Amino acid sequence: MKIDNRNIESHLKEKRVFKPAKEFARKARIKNLAQYRRMYRESIRQPDKFWSREAKELSWQKRWRKVLEWKAPFAKWFIGGKLNLSANCLDRHLTTHRRNKAAILWEGEPGEKRTLTYQQLHREVCRFANVLKRNKIGKGRRVIIYLPTIPEAAIAMLACARIGAVHSVVFGGFSADSIRDRIHDSGAIALITADGSYRRGGIVPLKKNVDDALRGGTSVKRVIVFQRAHNEIHMEEGRDVWWHRELEYVDDNCPPAALDSEHPLYILYTSGSTGKPKGILHTTGGYLVGIYSTTKYVFDIRDEDIFWCTADVGWVTGHSYVVYGPLANGATTFMYEGAPNWPEPDRFWKIIEQNRINILYTAPTAIRAFIRWGDQWVKKHDLSSLRLLGTVGEPINPEAWIWYHKNIGGEHCPVVDTWWQTETGAIMITPLPGAIPTKPGSATLPFFGVDPAVVDPNGKEVGANVGGKLIIRGPWPSMLRTIYRDTERYKKQYWSEYKENYVTGDGARRDEDGYFWIVGRIDDVLNVAGHRLGTSEIESALVSHVRVAEAAVVGRPDELKGQSVVAFVTLKSGVDASNDLKGELRDHVGVHIGAIAKPDEVRFAEALPKTRSGKIMRRLLKEIASGAKVSGDTTTLEDFSVLTKLAEPEE
Ligand code: PRX
Repeated sequence: MKIDNRNIESHLKEKRVFKPAKEFARKARIKNLAQYRRMYRESIRQPDKFWSREAKELSWQKRWRKVLEWKAPFAKWFIGGKLNLSANCLDRHLTTHRRNKAAILWEGEPGEKRTLTYQQLHREVCRFANVLKRNKIGKGRRVIIYLPTIPEAAIAMLACARIGAVHSVVFGGFSADSIRDRIHDSGAIALITADGSYRRGGIVPLKKNVDDALRGGTSVKRVIVFQRAHNEIHMEEGRDVWWHRELEYVDDNCPPAALDSEHPLYILYTSGSTGKPKGILHTTGGYLVGIYSTTKYVFDIRDEDIFWCTADVGWVTGHSYVVYGPLANGATTFMYEGAPNWPEPDRFWKIIEQNRINILYTAPTAIRAFIRWGDQWVKKHDLSSLRLLGTVGEPINPEAWIWYHKNIGGEHCPVVDTWWQTETGAIMITPLPGAIPTKPGSATLPFFGVDPAVVDPNGKEVGANVGGKLIIRGPWPSMLRTIYRDTERYKKQYWSEYKENYVTGDGARRDEDGYFWIVGRIDDVLNVAGHRLGTSEIESALVSHVRVAEAAVVGRPDELKGQSVVAFVTLKSGVDASNDLKGELRDHVGVHIGAIAKPDEVRFAEALPKTRSGKIMRRLLKEIASGAKVSGDTTTLEDFSVLTKLAEPEE
């Protein structure tokens, strides 16, 4: 089967509809379509009323004066309110039966297990917050967190939130250069890392990457190192301290700071269509309300549930649905450090069986890998504890959806295909499992308070089953507030095209039932295995190699990863094109960005197809990369012979 999520036509053929099971709906918070529609209508017509009701379920040190102030494109939510996110994730539960309940269940890749109850997690967070204070990290300061998915990642994030420091988590797969860029942009004064982490049986040298990133001097004055893998590392005198040693100097008393609702909570870097990653800024009150209520309604989460979101804490999904969303709801969140196929391809199913996981939230690219590895790995395990499945990160092809539903969900678990972005902070378009019938491949209907539309280039809403750009009309609580230190880019990138409407950068269509079918990115951003990668970032990494003159990177549909990275490279004169050089260029990208950005294919070319004004014609390269005949308009092409050369088969 050929998977091409960019092909809208293929979705049109998808007619299967799955109604929520009666048994599930009866117990769910939102029990039917009529109830969803009633609440949705209220959330759009009277957002203040709707969102204050949600916010009141949380704990505020001072109640807000006003729910929303919208001076497009700048929103403030719960104005005048004071609160603390860590207190909402921890202290709030300590006066209830949840005090002795597992907050975090964790499993390391080598197999160790840890459990932290709410009371224990609270204590660890308070102690580590005191470590931060001791190291002169205070309110408003930026802190880079470069850790694997271990409880300490959650502890570090919550400790920052407790004192009002702003965390910026950098995915553990990113390289030294990526860390340095993020330190530079955020002006971070401290960095929290580990000696190493485990991945597919090997050790990822996190601390070494940090040392490389800090070489030559940066704004980072303190590095706190958690001992995880016991690999040998260098500790820089006067700069680096051990996490466990620091704990010896502090007590466990750390009252949560009363922070303004709009106090910055975190900066998370994501790819955009220009070379530089964007620092997406999220603030406290609105973000909390957004992740709290989406976790509650979308996963219909229950006190007795064990919730497993398989994302790495370095991505937004890890922020919102491994750490903050489940803990704000007093749930038990499961964390796993390593790879899904280590030591064997049934690691996930083994984890589900042993821990009796109830809700699994993972990515389509992982599901496609499971399909490829074979059903026998799934069949070995009892997955009957599961009651709900979710996906996120990219469009899911209907066949993978059906496989997931049948083989993992035993045909009784609803599947929630949730559409959202780093920028949106929380889930935006999604089924509610007891209320909204699902169609494989569609993220279905908008969440409460979200008003999306599909529009043509003039901003006019298009009719049913016509493709267009996906926009969101008006603000929502968990929206990004700006791009850190680049308000102009924030305005231009998201809000300049259609006044007061947020441009998502995704293409979509809406069917005759109002269901959204997301096609994918329409800008120069790839979605490789659920990770957003800017083509221009990869291009600049390639061009930074001494032998490269010019590079153009495009995506090609890929059965497993959604898209794969194809790089067209022209070399400086006198340089020989060789297979060794291809490998070298791939590694070069790995060093500069991280392994996830390595081109799957490097093609050398004498020249790249350009318009007369010098713009690279990516559309043509895309067609060439996917082996298709160049069919579109080539009249603006400067040198036609370039095309024939590019299309020549590889040696
Ligand atoms: O293209 C959409 C795709 O992932 C992009 C957001 O990427 P990122 O900011 O890295 O966040 C990923 C996790 C929230 C979107 O613009 N995307 C995400 N979820 C879906 C999706 N595409 C289709 N269906 C989804 N459920």
